[in-house]
Amino acid sequence: MADIRALPVTSELVDYAVSHGSWPVDAVLADLRAETSALGGPAGMQIGPDQGQLLTFLTRLVGARRAVEVGTFTGYSSLCIARGLVEGGTLLCCDVSEEWTAIGRRAWERAGVADRIDLRLAPALDTLRGLPTDVPVDLAFIDADKPGYLDYWQELVPRVRSGGLLLADNVLWSGAIIDPANTEANTEALRGFNAAVAADDRVEAVILPAFDGLTIARRR
Ligand SMILES: C[S@@+](CC[C@H](N)C(=O)[O-])C[C@H]1O[C@@H](n2cnc3c(N)ncnc32)[C@H](O)[C@@H]1O
Repeated sequence: MADIRALPVTSELVDYAVSHGSWPVDAVLADLRAETSALGGPAGMQIGPDQGQLLTFLTRLVGARRAVEVGTFTGYSSLCIARGLVEGGTLLCCDVSEEWTAIGRRAWERAGVADRIDLRLAPALDTLRGLPTDVPVDLAFIDADKPGYLDYWQELVPRVRSGGLLLADNVLWSGAIIDPANTEANTEALRGFNAAVAADDRVEAVILPAFDGLTIARRR
C-alpha cells in the first residue's frame, strides 16, 4: 500500500520544527545527545529532540507536579519532563543502570533541575509497587524493557489522577508491530500491551504514529 504521508521526516526537518517550537534544543540537551552518541549502539534508545519537546509540552499541559519515568537511560527524556514541571514539582525516575544514569545526573545538575529528580536504581516494577496509591501522579512515561510495559501500566494507571497522562514509547516498534512474520519477544510484548491499552476503559488513548509510535492515554 502506498504511504499516505507525503511529509519526509528528515533530521533537518525535525531540527527546523523543534527550532520553531517553544523549548528549542539548548546547549545542555545538545551536549547530552553528543555524549550519548559516543556510547555507540545504545544511543539509539534516546528519544529525539522533537519527542523531548512534546514531553515538555505535555508536562506543561497537565500542569504536572508529580511525574514518573520508567526507563531513564542518559536522562534526555527526564530532563525534558523535569523542565515542564510546575514550581516545586518532582520527577521520579526508574532505571537499573548506574553507568548510563550517571551521564543524566550530570546533565540535570548542569540544567539546574537535579533537585526535582529522584532517581531510583532498582528494577522499575519494585519501585512502582512501592509507590503510595494516595499520592496522585499527573504524568507517567514508560520507556524501559518492552516485556515489562504491561506490568508498569497496571501499577501506574491506578496512581494517575483523573485527567492525568500515561505515555508509552516505541509502541509501533519500527513498524514490526504489524508484520505477522515478526514474532520476536519484544514485538509480541508490545502487541499485548497495545491490545490491553485499547481495551482498558480506565483511559482514553491514541497511538501517535510518530517517532517510534507513542501512546498518549488520558486517565478517565
Ligand atoms: C529506551 S531506554 C530509555 C531512554 C530514555 N527514556 C531516553 O529518552 O533517553 C531504556 C532504559 O530502561 C532501562 N531498563 C531496562 N530494564 C529495566 C527495568 N527492569 N527496570 C528499570 N529500568 C530498566 C535501561 O537501563 C535503559 O536505560
